[in-house]
Order: sequence, then structure tokens, then C-alpha cells
Amino acid sequence: MTTERVTDTRGRALRDLRISVTDRCNFRCSYCMPKEVFGARHRFMSRRDLLSFEEITRLARLFVDAGVRKLRLTGGEPLLRRDLERLVEMLARIDGVEDISLTTNGSLLTVAKARALRDAGLERITVSLDSVDDTTFQSMNDVGFPVEPVLVAIDNADAAGLRPVKINMVVKRGLNDDGIVDMAARFRGTGHIVRFIEFMDVGASNGWRLDDVVPAREIIARIDAVYPLEPANPNYRGEVARRWRYRDGAGEVGVITSVTQAFCGTCTRARLSAEGKIYTCLFATEGTDFRRLLREGASDAQLATAIAGLWSRRADRYSELRHQATVALPKIEMSYIGG
Ligand code: GTP
Ligand code: 5AD
Ligand code: SF4
Ligand code: SF4
Repeated sequence: MTTERVTDTRGRALRDLRISVTDRCNFRCSYCMPKEVFGARHRFMSRRDLLSFEEITRLARLFVDAGVRKLRLTGGEPLLRRDLERLVEMLARIDGVEDISLTTNGSLLTVAKARALRDAGLERITVSLDSVDDTTFQSMNDVGFPVEPVLVAIDNADAAGLRPVKINMVVKRGLNDDGIVDMAARFRGTGHIVRFIEFMDVGASNGWRLDDVVPAREIIARIDAVYPLEPANPNYRGEVARRWRYRDGAGEVGVITSVTQAFCGTCTRARLSAEGKIYTCLFATEGTDFRRLLREGASDAQLATAIAGLWSRRADRYSELRHQATVALPKIEMSYIGG
């Protein structure tokens, strides 16, 4: 069944669905799952709360009918979900899906896993890596996980054909910003694309302050001073990262400027949490419970109507409106909807 393409109240289509498959992670990055909040007493979702692969696939198919073309699997750490390649295979069979990718911390990405994901139909991988300096990286993931296995994971993804590998570095002033140029240097000429992300006020527990943000302008200036850069055009309308090319042909980097240059005007993303809630903004305080609809026996037509209704009412533009008062809102945590 194909429904009408929906647009929201600001004329934005629905093109991307980011699917979180678990709220768990084996890292405790201070900007995402600080130990004080996600400690031994934190209650994660129980197994029966999670959508099954069949439920995820059914919803994804209906989102594709409503206009979605790109799917991205996220977490927490998505590779903690057993047999993830089975889900990839199911999603890849949906007619109309043009791109399936995955965002991971790389800690569990063996050669075999990368191959299995690729064989199942995964096209691309993004690996989060906040520093190539071992001491800084270990203190940022806060579980003492070293850099080397993540570098191996990036190679594994590349060798399996999950190209180009993208590498996400969240930049926080005073914590890892002294490693910006080293990060660029490490991946120049490899074909991988590093994206520097402005530290965002996602969730309600990461202690965000504007002073901690290193503006993308400054990130680019610091790299440009050593390796001259020039701006490049977006690959597609609404691309999250702004692209910059090395003038000597050694590849490109990107910056994600949610704080200093909001990109809500072209935001076509919906997010599905592991327990089946749909969020129409990364900074939402509430989601819409699709698991309940699924488990109460809603028909495809009823689910499609719910999707179209939700999207057509959407007015989100948090990053454009961000100010001190919005920072304190009880927003959903990043580990719950996967960034
Ligand atoms: P491709 O361009 O398809 O490779 O992917 P992407 O850049 O959308 O994916 P990725 O998950 O790597 O996004 C990078 C980071 O940008 C995310 O982890 C978030 O931190 C941030 N981000 C992605 N989408 C949004 C968004 O809609 N709003 C905001 N504020 N930040 C976003
Ligand atoms: N600000 C910016 N990026 C963040 N991420 C997680 N928390 C934040 C934050 N507060 C990034 C991760 C990962 C992606 C899913 O989102 O590092 O690359
Ligand atoms: Fe885990 Fe990624 Fe959050 Fe770090 S940023 S705690 S790796 S989900
Ligand atoms: Fe989209 Fe919300 Fe991010 Fe703006 S803040 S780009 S509306 S997810």
C-alpha cells in the first residue's frame, strides 16, 4: 500500500528514519550516558519492552510508504542487540529503501560482524571516536576502552566494503578540542570522512553549557591553519554535516553545527526508540507510542494514518529556538534515540 507523501507544518518531507535497537551501551561517554545517571541503579528497558525485529520492520515499511528513503540503525550501542544482521536483512528487503547505515562505537565490530552486516545489505557505517589520543579517549568513554580496537573496527568496516566510513568526533572544549588537528591528520588520505560535532544539549543529564561548545567555524579554522580547506557542496539536500575538502586532494571533513548554525529548515528525520516511540525531533520531550498500536492489533492502514497525522502536525525546530530556558527542558536522552 502506498500512502500520500506527507509534509509537516513547515513543508518538510519525511525522508529518514533513525531506528534505535537498544538503550544499552558498553561505554559511558560523559556527554551521553554519564555514570552518575547511568550507574548500577539505572533501569534499562527489559526485553519484552523492546520492539521485535518483525515489529521494527513493519513500522519501517509503513514509514517508507510515507516517504522515508534512508534508514539508520542506532542505540545506545546497536551491536549489543543480538543478530542485528537479521534485522538489516529484513529492512533491506523493503521496496523503496535506498540506504541503510549504522552508527556504532566500534567496540564490537569484528571482521566477521562487518562482513555479516554487509552481506545482509548494510551499506555504510559511522564510528564514533572522540580522540586518537589513548588517555583522552579512555577518559571520555569512561570505561577505559582503548583507541586501538576502534581503529581496527574502522579498518574492518572498510575492508568489508562499508564505505566511505564516517568517523564522528564530539568536540567538547577543554576535554578533547586539543586533538582536533590530530584527528584530521590521522584520517587524511584514508578515504574515511571525519565529522566534528558541536557538543549539544541533548537529554537532561549531560551538564551542557554554551562555553563547552567549540563552534564549527573555529574547528575548521584550526584544521585549515595546518591543512588548507575549501568548502564543498552538500551531497544531498538536508545533509546534516557541512562538507570541507582538503585543497591538496587528501579527502574531506564535515562539521555538524547544530548549536551555531541550526539546520532545522531541512530536517526530514524521524526517530524510533527501541521500545517503539516515535520522536519527530532529537530534542523532543515526548514521543508517540507506536508499540501500543502495534500490540493492540492496529491495521497497516491505521498505522499509516497515525504516521501521516503525526508528521503533518510536526512543527519542531529546537535548534533554531535554543536558549537557556530550553536547555533545562526534560528532553529525551541521546542513548534512548541514538542521536
Ligand atoms: P549521513 O549524512 O547519512 O552519513 O548521516 P548523518 O550525518 O545523518 O548521520 P549520523 O548519525 O552520523 O549523524 C551525525 C550526528 O549528527 C548525530 O549523531 C547527531 O549527533 C547529529 N544529528 C543527526 N541528525 C540530527 C538532527 O536532526 N538534529 C540535530 N540537532 N543533530 C543531528
Ligand atoms: N552532543 C553531540 N553529539 C553527541 N553524540 C552523543 N551525545 C552527543 C552530544 N551531547 C554523538 C555520539 C555519536 C552520535 C550517535 O551522537 O558521539 O557519534
Ligand atoms: Fe554509548 Fe555512543 Fe552514548 Fe558513548 S555516545 S555512551 S558510545 S551511545
Ligand atoms: Fe531536526 Fe530537531 Fe535537530 Fe532541528 S533540532 S534539525 S528539528 S532534530
